[in-house]
Amino acid sequence: MTPASAASAVSAGRLATLLVSAPTSGPGYLALAHRLRELVGDGRLPVGTRLPSERALAAALGRGRATVTRAYDVLREQAYLESRQGSGSITRLPVSHAGRTDHLLVPRGSTEDSIDLTIATLPAPPGTADAYRAAVEELPAYLLGTGYYPTGLPALREAVADRYTRRGLATSPAQVVVVAGALAGLAVTAQVLTRPGDRVLVESPTYPNPLSTLQARGVRLVATAVDPGHGWDVDAVRQLVRAPRMRAAYLIPDFHNPTGALMPTEVRHELARVLAAAGVTPVVDESMVDLALDDAPLPAPFAAHSPGAFSIGSASKAFWGGLRIGWVRAPADRVDAVAAARLSLDLASPLLEQLTLLEMLRDEGPIRRHHRERVTASRAALLGALARELPDWRSVPGRGGLSLWCRLPAPLSSALSVAAERHGLYLAAGPSFAPEGGLERHVRLPHTLPGPLLEEAVRRLARAWADAPAVARRGAGGTSGRSPVVA
Ligand SMILES: Cc1ncc(COP(=O)(O)O)c(C=O)c1O
Repeated sequence: MTPASAASAVSAGRLATLLVSAPTSGPGYLALAHRLRELVGDGRLPVGTRLPSERALAAALGRGRATVTRAYDVLREQAYLESRQGSGSITRLPVSHAGRTDHLLVPRGSTEDSIDLTIATLPAPPGTADAYRAAVEELPAYLLGTGYYPTGLPALREAVADRYTRRGLATSPAQVVVVAGALAGLAVTAQVLTRPGDRVLVESPTYPNPLSTLQARGVRLVATAVDPGHGWDVDAVRQLVRAPRMRAAYLIPDFHNPTGALMPTEVRHELARVLAAAGVTPVVDESMVDLALDDAPLPAPFAAHSPGAFSIGSASKAFWGGLRIGWVRAPADRVDAVAAARLSLDLASPLLEQLTLLEMLRDEGPIRRHHRERVTASRAALLGALARELPDWRSVPGRGGLSLWCRLPAPLSSALSVAAERHGLYLAAGPSFAPEGGLERHVRLPHTLPGPLLEEAVRRLARAWADAPAVARRGAGGTSGRSPVVA
């Protein structure tokens, strides 16, 4: 890993406050190193921050200088700190802990200075390591049991049910089945609701991975358009649901991925009515619902208008993807079918992660605020850079979500993504989000990376856009189709 360049410095006084506000047990240099490592690990001391001198921190903490010196030495050994002549001690993360190391998620050919815009998800918020630690503390109480909770840890089912009830959808814990993320929830639900040869209504554009899940089940997809400015077309849905064997409708009404659109209450109501009249079950993906970027009240959940709907939730976006926890909220008389379907895939979700999520849910305000501040700042940086570098691209920022769905002046999205790779930029082209092909006039741009990185990404994007027509003429664009992994 190349040496981190210092983005900012933290003063001795500020660092002493961070350290003191969350003391660890056991005094001495190891405890100090441990706490500093946590602050770096969960982002409260961002990578690239210059730490105060050993003398200054020792004075601020009222400790001996040797304690700080030895703590810094430990951090250097563990690759959390890098000291360079003239630059002081700069925070970093060990290579093995950084980034997306699974080869399926790292775009082919990417290097350390590549910028990856194929994934719209956030790093773990501050306090995640603390939540895991608190969960470990609770673990002994469970160790004499089997550890298997096929429908989920009762306390977590209760907490999830309470959240639905608070959002305006009365829910009992018995209606909640905890699964390994929203995609697993969709796979389980598809098993309950569909048979090979059935039809499922999907939005276009839509989040791509469920399309593969549905297709693997032998289901035929029928697409209805969602537009960031105009939203859902209920009249079109009314026509489409007349097709034979139309069983379910996969919808993302709460900060739709990729457009960020939020379905208004009256559209929820009308769409629910149209689907119910046609005997089509809504499958409502609420993975993004906690990513509102303002304080205005949100509409009640779609299922509040549709008693037969299945709702799917996830901790991946609102908390952290590494938890791998999601859930299905089903109508009371369908929960047994959901549980049976889940047992055909896996037996239960990991106990430690369920306990950890429960900890995070106990005090989710700070986590929400942290994510919101980061996403808001990143989105402003992205919009500003696009206005400067690519003024003829169009986007309609929604009230929430993690990405912009940009309209290009020409249908060159696949050529653009091929051209971008040559500038070290990885994109998910429009066709990745298209259930029936097309969408070459669009590209999804996530605003989850820090602002300065997004500004650099847009500079590369502008260069790639200039190259895209030539790439398309050579026939190198337009054929990339759906990317294997877009998250
Ligand atoms: C709309 C939507 N559904 C599902 C998922 C996958 O969520 P999980 O990580 O919980 O499987 C994502 C993640 O990008 C998403 O945006």
